[in-house]
Amino acid sequence: MENQNKELLKVEHLKKYFNTPGGVLHAVDDVSFSIRAGETLGVVGESGCGKSTMGRAILRLHEPTSGKVYFEGNDILSYDKNKMKELRREMQIIFQDPFASLNPRMTVSEAIMEPLLIQKIYDKKDKEGLQKRVHELMNLVGLAERLTNSYPHELDGGRRQRIGIARALALRPKFIVCDEPVSALDVSIQAQILNLMQDLQDELDLTYMFITHDLSVVKHFSNQIMVMYLGQMVEMAPTEVLFKNPVHPYTKALLSAIPIPDPDYPMERIMMKGEITSPIDPEPGCRFAKRCPYATEVCGSPDIHLTEVEPGHFVSCMRIGEFGK
Ligand SMILES: Nc1ncnc2c1ncn2[C@@H]1O[C@H](COP(=O)(O)OP(=O)(O)OP(=O)(O)O)[C@@H](O)[C@H]1O
Ligand code: SF4
Ligand SMILES: [Mg+2]
Repeated sequence: MENQNKELLKVEHLKKYFNTPGGVLHAVDDVSFSIRAGETLGVVGESGCGKSTMGRAILRLHEPTSGKVYFEGNDILSYDKNKMKELRREMQIIFQDPFASLNPRMTVSEAIMEPLLIQKIYDKKDKEGLQKRVHELMNLVGLAERLTNSYPHELDGGRRQRIGIARALALRPKFIVCDEPVSALDVSIQAQILNLMQDLQDELDLTYMFITHDLSVVKHFSNQIMVMYLGQMVEMAPTEVLFKNPVHPYTKALLSAIPIPDPDYPMERIMMKGEITSPIDPEPGCRFAKRCPYATEVCGSPDIHLTEVEPGHFVSCMRIGEFGK
């Protein structure tokens, strides 16, 4: 593919803070990374660590507090409303719960048509053109044409998510934030949707940011994996490297929680203990310290930073190499 390996998205020092009655909540706190065209970045971490907020901040569905987002080299945080609306065609999102994100009063056809009308790709009067494109999209995501006039409540979770995917694809985007797209689905349907998304990626040369709390979901899917903890990236590496050589104690704990029947992956069970640090006005130093079995005084240092432990493998820990041997 011609644009393979070209950087499509670059994020620098992205922050998204929320003012709450209790103080400033650091939902996303200084995250930097890039994704190459046609590739998938898996983003994992437990509930509340800032995955969705980061995805939304990149798309400007939440206005970032600071930082930079470059799409195809352009600084999109400088875009005005009109330019942002145009950019929406290129950058889309698929939500976790298709039921919640679909209008219950819209048929399958109306739901898929909506982005085409909002973006004025088709005129409302061009019923034939619209219907043709809707059917094209339904075929693409494996929805039978007989469902054209069905309502979301008449369909199962997998079919509803196929509508969500068709809506996201309607404008022929290059980049899609997939925010836990299979978490709400039955396990038997999860694999079908993941396969569909993978096929679509190959066919349409899509670039994904795939958010999940389940590492095993992104293992076969992602080129790179970012592990987040309380608003920060604690480790990022090419997928194979992350699974073979996890360095951060939190990553190790996540990995040790999934059974991997492969002796090449050394699995030392790490138990997380203690309370979770509050994301509101957090103290300097490592945010994992209260739960980390290897924490010492040095971990409270405000100097904590990402270290490149091997090419393309970044870890944020003060005690790299001093434990887990
Ligand atoms: N609009 C908002 N106002 C205030 N705080 C918010 C808002 N949205 C998210 N947060 C807070 O930001 C933090 C990150 O939330 P976010 O939804 O991004 O986490 P997540 O990793 O996507 O979690 P989950 O796995 O449960 O979806 C949480 O502490 C959450 O309570
Ligand atoms: S910096 Fe300290 S507390 Fe944080 S992960 Fe490393 S060893 Fe654990
Ligand atoms: Mg979320």
